[in-house]
Amino acid sequence: MKELNKKAILKDLKENDIDIRIFSSIDSTNNECKRQCFDKKYLLITAEEQTKGRGRSGKNWISQKLGNVYMSFAFNNNLKNSPISLITGVIVHSILTKITQSKGFGLKWPNDILLKNKKIGGILVENEIQGNKIKTIIGIGINFNLEEKESWWGDLSEFSKIIERNNLINGITKNLIDYIENENLHWIDSWHYACSHLNKKVKVNSGSKTICEGIFIGINDDGSMNIKLDDKIENFKFGEVSIKGIY
Ligand code: BTN
Repeated sequence: MKELNKKAILKDLKENDIDIRIFSSIDSTNNECKRQCFDKKYLLITAEEQTKGRGRSGKNWISQKLGNVYMSFAFNNNLKNSPISLITGVIVHSILTKITQSKGFGLKWPNDILLKNKKIGGILVENEIQGNKIKTIIGIGINFNLEEKESWWGDLSEFSKIIERNNLINGITKNLIDYIENENLHWIDSWHYACSHLNKKVKVNSGSKTICEGIFIGINDDGSMNIKLDDKIENFKFGEVSIKGIY
């Protein structure tokens, strides 16, 4: 696995717009984004390992030095209520699909990245209010290799010769900037297309509790999901879903 490399990550990007820092080790790239002030339009932090990697819902994100992607991208957010975490999922999904030409990638609500129905990546978006500005931090973890894993975890090892990590980070950054500057992605259709459980029966969970079971019939432009129950359609903004045969 090639080391993280500034030049390769910034290829065809406007260097004047992006502050980039690469760490061999850091607590969490999202934490580092929060600590840093940035003079340029965007801040990109990436690291070979994280000692306190964080996942959604207060979970840890295992972040060993195994050639995985741990990146955080921060910007001053003027987007109108776009669910940037789902949009990021669409971006990552489409880049992985394009590079590998594989149909095995999928998304699980809200923003888990799957390969053959196993989780290979996740997204943690955090917002910080600074004066009258909202600084949004998009944290992305994508596993090429994991030493130990639960049965529902996968990795990209089968594509390690095809996907180059710096190239992947470059593609994600380019597409994020393109969305932020132009908002020209039909992301809802793309999200539905990539979804691994559209029209399937799901359990809606909050923490360890199952709230209901129903059919996942899609998302709205705020990123919330619609679940068809026996007699009504229920809308959820928060929580997790689990699906038989996926996880
Ligand atoms: C999830 O729980 O699915 C979200 C995982 C997000 C992990 C990434 S790795 C880079 C960034 N830094 C962190 O501490 N977390 C995110």
